[in-house]
Amino acid sequence: MSLPCTDIAPFVERRRRLLAHMRAAGGGIAVLSTAPHAQRNHDAEYPYRHDSDFYYLTGFIEPEAWLVLVAGVTDRAILFCRAKRPEQEIWEGYRCGPDAAVTRYGFDEAYATDELDTLLPALLSDQPTLYRSFAATGAVERKLRHWLLQSEQQGRGRRLAPGRIQDLRPILADMRVIKDASEIAAMRQAARISAGAHTRAMRAARPGMHEYQLEAELLYEFRRHGAQSPAYPSIVAAGANACVLHYAAGDTVLRDGDLVLIDAGCEYDSYASDITRTFPANGRFTGPQRALYDLTAAAQQAAVQATAPGRSWNDAHEAAVRVLAQGMLDEGLLHGSLDGVLESTAYTRFYMHRTGHWLGLDVHDVGDYRQGSASEQDRPWRSLAAGMVLTIEPGIYVREAADVPEAFWNIGIRIEDDALVTAEGCELITRGVPVDAREIEALMRE
Ligand code: GLY
Ligand code: MN
Ligand code: MN
Repeated sequence: MSLPCTDIAPFVERRRRLLAHMRAAGGGIAVLSTAPHAQRNHDAEYPYRHDSDFYYLTGFIEPEAWLVLVAGVTDRAILFCRAKRPEQEIWEGYRCGPDAAVTRYGFDEAYATDELDTLLPALLSDQPTLYRSFAATGAVERKLRHWLLQSEQQGRGRRLAPGRIQDLRPILADMRVIKDASEIAAMRQAARISAGAHTRAMRAARPGMHEYQLEAELLYEFRRHGAQSPAYPSIVAAGANACVLHYAAGDTVLRDGDLVLIDAGCEYDSYASDITRTFPANGRFTGPQRALYDLTAAAQQAAVQATAPGRSWNDAHEAAVRVLAQGMLDEGLLHGSLDGVLESTAYTRFYMHRTGHWLGLDVHDVGDYRQGSASEQDRPWRSLAAGMVLTIEPGIYVREAADVPEAFWNIGIRIEDDALVTAEGCELITRGVPVDAREIEALMRE
C-alpha cells in the first residue's frame, strides 16, 4: 500500500516555499515527474524507487505521477497520479487515486495521469516561466514539448507558452541541503538501523566466511527494522579488495589476518545512511593494521572537530589530509616533509577520495559544495550551517608496491560516520557502532 507519510505538513510547507520563490521571480509554472520504472531484464523490473526531488515536494511514492505547481494570483498545487483501477490493483497493488490524494497529501487538486494531455496545454499558457528538471528523461522531454506546442496552437496567437525555462534542480538542491525536523528524524532512524547492521556483521564475522554472508547479515538487519532497501550497493571487502573503492560484496573468503571493510547503509522512509567500518576478520588487529587504523581514526576525529557552523566545507577534508599525510610520513609510506607532501599531493597515492559528501534523500545528496554563481571561476567553498547532514569518511588504501613497506601491503581502511551540523558543532548520528579499535575487538570477542 502506498500510505501517506505520517505528517504531510513538511511537504505542504516545501511546496509553499518553492511557490514563494517562483512568485518572487515573476510567477510561473513548475512541472515535475517522478522516476520511470527501470527494466532489469526481459519483463522483470528493478524494484521501483521514486524520484527524490518529487518525493521532497509530495511525499508521494507511486510511479507515473506528476506534480504541477502554479505560482499566480492564487497558488495551485496539482497532482496527477494513476487512476483507481480495481482490476489492475489485483495484480499490481493498491493505488491511491486522485480523489484520496487531495486530502491525504494536501494538494489543491488531483487528476488521473490520463488527463495530462487535456489539461497541461491550458495550464502552461500565459505562464511567464516554466520550471522543470533539466535532468528529465527523453520521454518527459517529449511530453513537455508536445504540451508546449499544443498550448501555442490552442491559443491561436492570443495565449503564449512560457518564454523562459528554468531548471528546478538548483532551487530544490538549495532547499534540500538544510534538513528539517522530519528529515532529521528519518535520518536518525536510518542511522540507527545501519549502525545495528554493522554491529551485527562484526559479531558474525569470522575467518572462513564469504563476503556475501556478511552482506546477508546487513540486509537482514536493514529489513527487519523496516528499512525499505540499502541506500546503495553494500561494499563488503575482505583483504586486498578493500583497496578497490567501489568493490561490491563478492564471494571472497575472509582469511585469518585479513581486515574487512564494510561500507553499507540502509534507506529508511526515503532517507539514506552511509557507514563504513573496518575490522579484523579474526577479531584482533595486527600491529601494522592497528597503526593505520588508529591513524585513520585520528584523521576522522580531526575532521569532526572542523565540522561546525560557519566552517568552510573544505576544512574537514584539509584537517583529515593533514593528519593522514603526517601519519604516512611517520610510517614510512611517504618521504619528505609534511608541507612538501601536502604541496605535491603525494598523499593521494594512499588517500585518493574526498572526506565527505552531503547526505539525504540521495546517498550523494544534492547541494552545491561551493558558493556563488556556477559560472564564476574559483568559487569559494560553501560555509556549513546547522541542519546540514554530511559524511566524514577518511581512509587509507595501500596496494602492493616495491617502494612500500611490505607490512602495509593490501591494507584498506575507511571509517565513515554521518554528521548533523548543529548550532555548536556537529553530532555523529551513526555512532551506535563502535569506532575505537579496542571497542571493536571487545565487541567481536562477545
Ligand atoms: N557509500 C558511498 C560513499 O561512501 O560515498
Ligand atoms: Mn559516503
Ligand atoms: Mn559509504
